[in-house]
Amino acid sequence: MDRRSFLGKIGEIGAAGVALSALPLAQACAPAKKEDKALTKARIGLIGPGSRGQLHLGNLQQIANAEVVALCDIYQPNLEKGLSMFPGARAYTDYRELLADKDVDGVIIATPLHLHYPMAMDAMAAGKHVLCEKAMAYTMDECLEMYNSALSCGKVFIIGQQRLFDPKYRKALESVRNGEYGPVVNVRNYWFRNADWRRPIPSPEYEKLINWRLYREFSRGLMTELACHQLQNGIFATGELPYKVMGSGDIIYWKDGREVFDNVCVIYTFPNGVNMTFESVISNKHFGMGEQILCKDGTVDLPNGRYYPEEPPKKTAIRQLLGEIEKGVFSNPAFAGTSWAPETAEDTSGISIMPEASGDGSLEMMQAFCDACISGVQPEGVLREAYYGSILSILGDEALLQRKILEFPEKYRVD
Ligand SMILES: NC(=O)c1ccc[n+]([C@@H]2O[C@H](COP(=O)([O-])OP(=O)(O)OC[C@H]3O[C@@H](n4cnc5c(N)ncnc54)[C@H](O)[C@@H]3O)[C@@H](O)[C@H]2O)c1
Repeated sequence: MDRRSFLGKIGEIGAAGVALSALPLAQACAPAKKEDKALTKARIGLIGPGSRGQLHLGNLQQIANAEVVALCDIYQPNLEKGLSMFPGARAYTDYRELLADKDVDGVIIATPLHLHYPMAMDAMAAGKHVLCEKAMAYTMDECLEMYNSALSCGKVFIIGQQRLFDPKYRKALESVRNGEYGPVVNVRNYWFRNADWRRPIPSPEYEKLINWRLYREFSRGLMTELACHQLQNGIFATGELPYKVMGSGDIIYWKDGREVFDNVCVIYTFPNGVNMTFESVISNKHFGMGEQILCKDGTVDLPNGRYYPEEPPKKTAIRQLLGEIEKGVFSNPAFAGTSWAPETAEDTSGISIMPEASGDGSLEMMQAFCDACISGVQPEGVLREAYYGSILSILGDEALLQRKILEFPEKYRVD
């Protein structure tokens, strides 16, 4: 199954030419309460009810102002799984037929990477609002074209970078950007797993359809699957773009016929010399996933929503004494004196940035998309960051493939 055989073009179906307006993100993301059921529902069509598509459908089941009216997949078992979640939805096997369905307001594209560009461009041309999964597209040119179309088509366009809708990420990143923790001195990202990334296939002809992530024709591997999520944090936190990237990538463990790297280490450098790293291996998971913004006054741990000041507040004498006793430093409490020796380690549990926030932003993103399908208003402050997250992940992959230091090409700058 080659790249182009998935594709097909439909004609121009009248995209409206209305300028995008802005709505504060908090408002765009505010979940609709079940009891406030809006009269209007977002009528959603989803292309690709595979792993991520089914997660979206699960979220849509919880969203009061959403109705899934159409589903499309070329793989029957996944189409049926989708239909079991929304039995009333119309089923298609050609995405262009779903796009021609007049009952569909908003389209979710949850297909493999190489299909994002043709499907999203066709969806915009068909006059639909679009939520397209990350990474935005396979090439930087495709990303730029999609970005420009999104600005001019008058419809809502969201890239599935859910961290941009996660309240704890947004609060932390906005605080960093406002300088609350001092200047950013380093951005550290890593994502470690210990699994081959393979999925079982019913028979060999399904290998590339199901294990598309492992093949260069359809995927850029760890860079577009994982890095794009994390790289966007550095851009959001600093408000800047790195000007160069270098790194190394290889297949070091899973030598099973795959074409994408199973091990990458990439460094992006910002104009002021600050570095942002992305490291990933899928043959050791000990350190898991980390996204850390290191500032002069403290460190922000994004996935855990915690801040670690460089100078934690001093413990009161009595708290320190109790700590010493717990650790067995003293056998008997001595309730006198203020100097305790030896010193115990500083408390490193950090400060919670937003204790009430749970989840990873995927539900908030879907709610924002449904609200935007009804209002026609683009959520503010999410497209640029997602665009650059994808551009940087592709540029990083190019640096790995070409084994060169690459500069950020100015033609992909959009601001
Ligand atoms: N935002 C996130 O955290 C996140 C997480 C996982 C995956 N994703 C993204 O979601 C997308 C899908 O990933 P996945 O793991 O769900 O893949 P998947 O293989 O499980 O699902 C893709 C689905 O698309 C279908 N499909 C393929 N070609 C099609 C075509 N021409 N027409 C209609 N349907 C077609 C497949 O049959 C499959 O059901 C990818 O872009 C991936 O990067 C995002």
